[in-house]
Amino acid sequence: MPDPISNPEAPDTPFDISLRPPLFEEFSGQEKTIERLQLMVEAAKMRDDVLQHILLSGPPGLGKTTLAYIIGNAVGAEVKTTSGPMIEKAGDLAGLLTNLQRGDVLFIDEIHRLQPAIEEYLYPAMEDFKVDILIDQGPSARAVRLHLAKFTLIGATTRAGMISAPLRSRFGMNCRLDYYDIGPLTKIVLRSAGLIGVEIDEPGALEIARRSRGTPRIVNNYLRWVRDFAQVRAQGHITRDVAAAALTMLDVDEDGFDEMDKRIIESLIMKFDGGPVGVNALAVAAGEEPGTLEEVHEPYLIMQGYLKRTPQGRVALTRAYRKLGLESPGRAQDELFQ
Ligand SMILES: Nc1ncnc2c1ncn2[C@@H]1O[C@H](COP(=O)(O)OP(=O)(O)O)[C@@H](O)[C@H]1O
Ligand SMILES: [Mg+2]
Repeated sequence: MPDPISNPEAPDTPFDISLRPPLFEEFSGQEKTIERLQLMVEAAKMRDDVLQHILLSGPPGLGKTTLAYIIGNAVGAEVKTTSGPMIEKAGDLAGLLTNLQRGDVLFIDEIHRLQPAIEEYLYPAMEDFKVDILIDQGPSARAVRLHLAKFTLIGATTRAGMISAPLRSRFGMNCRLDYYDIGPLTKIVLRSAGLIGVEIDEPGALEIARRSRGTPRIVNNYLRWVRDFAQVRAQGHITRDVAAAALTMLDVDEDGFDEMDKRIIESLIMKFDGGPVGVNALAVAAGEEPGTLEEVHEPYLIMQGYLKRTPQGRVALTRAYRKLGLESPGRAQDELFQ
């Protein structure tokens, strides 16, 4: 079962929403992306034009939904939200599109999960701001072309690779969010602590940031847990030791590994001799859904240099062996599978 505290894929809670920064200025990290987006917004405003369509991609919990709302705020537009799997019929999408006013933002989360027929229906809407709708059924059925107000589509996806080329090409801007560095993550801890009104010192914030796998949503979830811990065991004040003790109690170690991360590395090394092994077999061995393993756990393990994706399968790197206190195998596995 996915751990509800560290699972960044869990649905947005009121807590998440209350901690969402509403403005670019309050959004830490992702500097290049923010600079580009701010420039686009400024240019559109100067021309009194509508913002181009934007695709946001990256692992869960890095700020895609947050950014969609910040962009909406910045252009002074209403953000209407839906998600790929929620749109079942072309009529659902037509309903959404025809209700948009000029400049409105339509946010489609998990856009890689749109059905192909609906995706195709979206193309003329994105490109020429028009849709064909079918009226009547049977022999008298006919298509009527509707003109839409010029709007901005913001798509979000955890699987950039699953976006079809025709859809991708219809976005004017493609932004990839990366895992956060410790500096911006620490700032996020401090900001969130201020908002929920808990006392924390810098080393305490740094400790939470260090263990949050580069992910703001995990920062916020851990902070909430550490606050509870501090309230009961440390007079409500979060220091480095308090944060470390609280997170250790959750089985989150110094590198931010939770139970599942550990199990993945252990399975790979103990059961598959370090790989290469296919993602499905690895997921079964670790007791996780292959999709979750691939979208949630693996990207961070890869980024941190614990494992590698190769055409033959997943391979454990030296750092993974060290993590388990093992010697890495004599063959330089790191170079063997390029
Ligand atoms: N750069 C950031 N600065 C501050 N908080 C952030 C930032 N990015 C994300 N968050 C916080 O993390 C949580 C998860 O972000 P969200 O936008 O829902 O991620 P995604 O849509 O990519 O899964 C939000 O509730 C927000 O409070
Ligand atoms: Mg989201």
